[in-house]
Amino acid sequence: MNLILLGPPGAGKGTQAVQIAEAFGLLHLSSGDILRAERKARTELGQKAQVLMDRGALVPDDLILAMMVEHIGRAAERNGFLLDGFPRTLAQAQGLKSRLESAKMRLDHVVSVEVEDSEIVTRLTGRLYCPECGRTYHEKFSPPQVAGVCDVNGEKLLRRKDDTPEVVRQRLETYHRETKPLIAYYGEQGLLRSVSGVGEIDEVTARIKEACGA
Ligand code: AP5
Repeated sequence: MNLILLGPPGAGKGTQAVQIAEAFGLLHLSSGDILRAERKARTELGQKAQVLMDRGALVPDDLILAMMVEHIGRAAERNGFLLDGFPRTLAQAQGLKSRLESAKMRLDHVVSVEVEDSEIVTRLTGRLYCPECGRTYHEKFSPPQVAGVCDVNGEKLLRRKDDTPEVVRQRLETYHRETKPLIAYYGEQGLLRSVSGVGEIDEVTARIKEACGA
């Protein structure tokens, strides 16, 4: 099964992607995580992306498309792929469609996870992550067992640079302008399923599984 999780920043795409990828044996590809790994490794792509990411702007379509197509090639070893954070513009979606057609692959479902902007600001400004294993927490909604420390490896938890209130507002504007049109694009192709991203994390996971026919 090949799946896209669409949704605004902070909708819970990353949180849900981990559960869904494990349940279906999918390769989880988060464009944001891949870009952060490129930054950490100080590659040319990572350095180009850094300034744009920190101010909540998008990385150019051609760079993202080439990066993601390379990773999608590895999905053959699994039961399919789950894309999280990509595509994010109409040009990326059209580029993905033509690359998949050339590789004789297809999308099965696009699940749009819906959350109001006001809830998103609360979620992102309270988000914490482990720099070692990447696990995500929330101060109130999914706190670690010991405040400020990762449950898995005891590392000190950090906040993402782009989770300040100003940058979150910018990311939301970018989402509404560039990414929201993909809901209509995939709706016209009969691939779109919409689920509410509000409620307990496990409840949202169950809704996504149901939307995928499980
Ligand atoms: P990226 O890393 O993809 O960020 P994003 O899309 O803005 O999404 P987030 O990771 O912030 O949120 P999420 O939906 O995964 O939510 P999460 O599960 O963490 O992209 C970062 C940047 O990279 C972009 O701004 C851009 O510059 C660049 N980029 C990436 N992809 C690109 C592309 N395709 N093209 C161009 N540029 C690109 O949850 C958020 C918080 O809420 C957590 O604290 C979590 O614990 C909590 N939470 C989750 N679910 C619930 C729930 N049900 N109830 C309460 N709290 C919850």
